[in-house]
This record gives sequence, C-alpha cells and structure tokens, in this order.
Amino acid sequence: HKIAILISGRGSNMMALVEQARGYSVVLVASDKPDAPGLAWARERGLATWALSPRGIGKAAYEAQLDAALRAAGVTVIALAGYMRLVSDDFVARWRDRIVNIHPSLLPLYKGLDTHRRAIEAGDAEGGCSVHIVTEELDGGRLLGQARVPILPGDDADTLAARVLIAEHALYPRTLAEFVMSPADHIHAFATTLPEVE
Ligand code: GRF
Repeated sequence: HKIAILISGRGSNMMALVEQARGYSVVLVASDKPDAPGLAWARERGLATWALSPRGIGKAAYEAQLDAALRAAGVTVIALAGYMRLVSDDFVARWRDRIVNIHPSLLPLYKGLDTHRRAIEAGDAEGGCSVHIVTEELDGGRLLGQARVPILPGDDADTLAARVLIAEHALYPRTLAEFVMSPADHIHAFATTLPEVE
C-alpha cells in the first residue's frame, strides 16, 4: 500500500511511520501548514511533500487540490498524524475506510482536544492513544488499535502527553502495518475498488 501522511506540525508520528514502515511505503507527506516543521524533515529524507494553506482559497478548493495530489501520487491509504483540520464529509466519502488517525486518548473517552488534561482531571488511572478509521463523526470511527500508559501522581498534561507520545510512536506503525496487511480483518476496505480518478 502507498501511504500519504497528513501533518500540521512537528510530525513525530509521521517520522515513526516512515522509520518503522512495514507492509506499506510512504509516498507523500502533505500538510495544510506550508511551514510545518515535519515537512522539512520529510524533504531532508527525500520524501515527496505537498503543502497548501486553505487560507484564502477555502476548504473545498483546498481539499480538491489535496485529493488531486493524493491520487496523482497513487495513494491508497491516508494516515492523519497531528493533522489539526477537520476532514469534510465529502472527503471522507471519497476515501471511505481508507483514512486512519491517531488520537491521544483511550477512545471512546475524550474525543476532541485537551485529552490529557481531561484524563487527569477525571482522576483516571490510565491514559493512552488510539488508532481508528476516520468517519464523519469526530474521533468516532472503528478502533484499530490502542496502547495504555499509567497516569502517575504529579502528572500534568505535558508529562502525560510525553509518556503517551512514546506509546503513539510504537502503536501507529504497528497498527497501520496490520491494517494494510490483513484486509480480511478490516471491513471490506480493500476488497472494493478504488474510486475513479477524475
Ligand atoms: C499527537 O499526540 C497526536 O496523537 C495528536 O497530535 C499530536 C501530534 O504530534 N493528534 P506529532 O505532530 O505527530 O508530533
């Protein structure tokens, strides 16, 4: 499978997906933030990159160009990794069951932002991260994998985030590899034909 990774920032999960690639190859790193630090890393590694800011052109035009870049690169699966933009329903429909995301909580707990602070404030004994299929519902698609870490006395959102991030870097490549290599276990995502290129 040919993977595109979508980032908005530092891209540490993107780096983990590139460095631990197994059963898939990363053919494009794309961003809504042309100055995302992770893009520079990808370029230095010789990876193909694409970046465009939706500012000024609007979300629909931005996503149309993104979609064209993904199809031109022959992408079959999209991995969101710190991509801070909501994907439109239309885009989800065009890539149904072919977009995955990593979220820094034990879903279905703490969808959305500020997950670590919320877990600490709730008095949870564990935090963690989840890899899931992206659907129209925010952080709501089917779970593909999860990793847990303890919440320790004295933790704040930053110390917990750092502990969870280490788990993310192990979970995401492993889960993506399983997802692309065992299609039988995962709906009919890869039995169906890819959408036509327009
Ligand atoms: C990660 O914690 C990820 O789970 C969340 O945003 C953070 C992105 O970090 N969605 P990075 O850009 O991968 O370093």
